[in-house]
Amino acid sequence: MKINIEKDRVEKVRAEAVVVSVYEKDKLPGGEAGELDKTVGGKISDLIKKGDFKGRLGQTAILYTWGEIPAKRILLIGMGKRKEMSLERVRQVAGKAGIQVRELGLKSFATTLPETDSKFGLSQAVVEGTLLALYRFRQFKTKDEDKTEITQFTIIHKDPKKILEIKKGVKLGQIVAEAVNWTRDLVNLPGNELTPQRLGREAQMLTRQFPLKCKILGPPEIKRLKMNCLLQVAKGSRQPPRFIILEYPGKGRGLKTVVLVGKGITFDSGGISIKPSARMEEMKFDMAGGAAVLGAVRAAAQLGLPFRIIGLVPATENLPGGAAYRPGDILISSSGKTIEIITTDAEGRLILADALIYAQRYRPEAIIDLATLTGACIIALGNEASGMMGNNQKLLARLKQAGEEAGERVWELPLWKEYDELLKSEVADVKNVGNRSAGVITGGAFLGRFIDKTAWAHLDIAGTAWNEKRTKYMSPGATGVGVRLLTRFFQNWAKQ
Ligand code: BES
Ligand code: MN
Ligand code: ZN
Repeated sequence: MKINIEKDRVEKVRAEAVVVSVYEKDKLPGGEAGELDKTVGGKISDLIKKGDFKGRLGQTAILYTWGEIPAKRILLIGMGKRKEMSLERVRQVAGKAGIQVRELGLKSFATTLPETDSKFGLSQAVVEGTLLALYRFRQFKTKDEDKTEITQFTIIHKDPKKILEIKKGVKLGQIVAEAVNWTRDLVNLPGNELTPQRLGREAQMLTRQFPLKCKILGPPEIKRLKMNCLLQVAKGSRQPPRFIILEYPGKGRGLKTVVLVGKGITFDSGGISIKPSARMEEMKFDMAGGAAVLGAVRAAAQLGLPFRIIGLVPATENLPGGAAYRPGDILISSSGKTIEIITTDAEGRLILADALIYAQRYRPEAIIDLATLTGACIIALGNEASGMMGNNQKLLARLKQAGEEAGERVWELPLWKEYDELLKSEVADVKNVGNRSAGVITGGAFLGRFIDKTAWAHLDIAGTAWNEKRTKYMSPGATGVGVRLLTRFFQNWAKQ
């Protein structure tokens, strides 16, 4: 997508359509909509007066200009109530406008920025909302019913003093949104296409474009590192596992190291403890944590953030082949800690255990893992927030703040030691599941057993990584959750 930034006035801009926003309950449109209203002889205020356009959040109306101004159409978009305005709403409204323009069959448009006192982050939010909403996964459509694709848009602003700031915001928004959409492509790919090998290749390919180093470990190296959990989970599949190490060395000196760990199950059938067949196809998304980690490292590299960031992705399928691991098996993890397998469907935590152990070699400032770990997390929080657990309140507070700002909320669940009791095994150091209670927490508690003293946070993204239908500015399918959250997390931390 080409994004232009131009100093221009809404009543002068030449475009197929120009987007202007109107707040609910405004008798007269404010800001640029107000100025435009005067030029077109009060047509916008007339629409408001007649009650045809109320400015409700996401409401749209199209006005044809018939040569009155150079723009051929005016797209009015409702901002909702003035005092409820937020950057999340700006994303939402921008996304809605983009979709509307595409439905009109147009290839480009111009947009004003919403009228508000605080202009901070506005252009970034407009770009994010637009690019995220327009994303579609159509690699496998050979006959496309609907070919229109918006190829560029222009953000206009009348004040030349603001242009530089707007440009910065646009650049940021575009880098972040493109990293998110890159992640979404990986998550949307089905299991036959996105094998562990392919995931490794995709990570490797990033090094051509961005200042990154990548190492892909295969079975011999994984064996040498004694990552038995990863090996055992992989045994039921013909696809060899991979352990992906993507490093962004960081821009600057004496940088803090942060390790990101992402679950990379390219397909989760449950293994011998096989899942019911209903909706099993959704389990192609079980590498969403891994893809988000790679996407976040990509964004950090492109932004030149002042951190050394290591992305670790243990990648494998979980299938019930003849060599598959079984319930009752006892696995010896790379730290030597033993694990009794109660169900082979709790596989994510096993491969993450080996990765978390490896992460601590870097002696990082913090470790953050992302995983579509439990169905129980969807029961607890639905699709509105990722579940968050950890051992360091400062780290968790940073993530909470970043999540709110980025529009990817997280919500903390407790890791009291009583929960840990649920994982006691008669025969090994720990078992891989508890009973049915607190399923999301026992997942976190299991991972916590493999963390020594490093500040650590676990994000369960089972409920946030996939969108069944279009919501707000997210198109259906993979959401790329985690990329925006982590990028904002690093940006905020860098400022302190
Ligand atoms: N990948 C699943 C988690 C999942 C399930 C995400 C449903 C989204 C929807 C994970 O590997 C899994 O199977 N977890 C089990 C854990 C249980 C056996 C303790 C689950 O949630 O049922
Ligand atoms: Mn599973
Ligand atoms: Zn899984």
